[in-house]
Amino acid sequence: MELFDVYSLFDVTPVRAQGCRVWDDRGQEYLDLYGGHAVISVGHCHPDYVAALKDQLDKIGFYSNSVVNPLQVELAHKLGEASGYADYSLFLDNSGAESNENALKLASFHTGRDRVVAFRRSFHGRTSGAVAVTDNPKIVSPFNAVHKVTFCDLEDTEGVEAQLKRGDVAAVIVEGIQGCGGIHTPSTAFLQALESLCAKYGSVLVLDEVQSGYGRSGKFFAHQWTGIRPGIITMGKGIANGFPCGGILIAPEFEAVKGRLGTTFGGNYLACAGAIAVLDIIRKEKLIDNALAVGEYLKANIPASPRIREVRGRGLMIGIEFNEDVAPIRRQLLYERHIFTGVAGSNMIRLLAPLCLTMAQAEHFVQVLKEIL
Ligand SMILES: Cc1ncc(COP(=O)(O)O)c(C=O)c1O
Repeated sequence: MELFDVYSLFDVTPVRAQGCRVWDDRGQEYLDLYGGHAVISVGHCHPDYVAALKDQLDKIGFYSNSVVNPLQVELAHKLGEASGYADYSLFLDNSGAESNENALKLASFHTGRDRVVAFRRSFHGRTSGAVAVTDNPKIVSPFNAVHKVTFCDLEDTEGVEAQLKRGDVAAVIVEGIQGCGGIHTPSTAFLQALESLCAKYGSVLVLDEVQSGYGRSGKFFAHQWTGIRPGIITMGKGIANGFPCGGILIAPEFEAVKGRLGTTFGGNYLACAGAIAVLDIIRKEKLIDNALAVGEYLKANIPASPRIREVRGRGLMIGIEFNEDVAPIRRQLLYERHIFTGVAGSNMIRLLAPLCLTMAQAEHFVQVLKEIL
């Protein structure tokens, strides 16, 4: 059997990793500024994280959501404390897309409405509802295109209000920082306007923090730079440092109805053990402060060049927009300088390093950029 060939692959085979470093099968070391697509939050193979998963596997690896699982309760408690949302509830699932799916479903149950407002350049995942609110027709099949979704421009408050006024909008979904769409941060005024418009017209504000959350922006969630409190916050990626895990934080006004949400694997023992370890490490090692400090250093020191149009983002979620296709630059960084980077569109290098990136590693990248540009 062959693999279904949907991924464009780099010719690199990682076999070992530690912190922000990765080694391939030939022993070549790489600096990881991509974090396996924003997934590695506390660093590869952190000893506390590895120990937590190994210990848990020795005790019990899986049982269903029909029994009491104290690890879920511990995770909810720690996540409430760490995020500042102790009064919200936690529902655990398996991925970012599933989190958005659950958030939109819950908003629809809660309001009895069926339309969603999303934004141009958005990415929310590939399952049916999540891909329907994603602004990329290439990955929306006819089967997914049946949802009632209206796309507005970021910052177009009037456009959003015109939609909400119609009274049929269950949810407005927006990323804390748009990632795949090219590192666009909604302004404080715009997110505050969305919060008050949703309150005024009875819609639910859903903040997709799958990529921008878990400390990446220098706050626990990126929207916390603006002081708003959304109805539902969605999570994934870094939540368990690579063990598949997602979840949503739900405001107190939502009613929990037995059987309305559910999943076989969500909240399993290993995912919870990984997620608890991640929160403990983030706190102990002050990784959110580190993400902010190292990210701000990077933003300020990426060399000025006629080839670079703009550098933007927050913390360790940074886009370097070029005036040219970045594919050759990324190949050069990977194959000649042994640095992993991400991409957004054709002209942007996207940096999504683990939150433990050191200043020395950031300086090395700046130096390499100076040399190759
Ligand atoms: C903002 C955002 N939401 C949702 C998703 C989907 O997450 P997953 O691939 O875990 O389903 C992603 C993935 O890149 C994302 O960046």
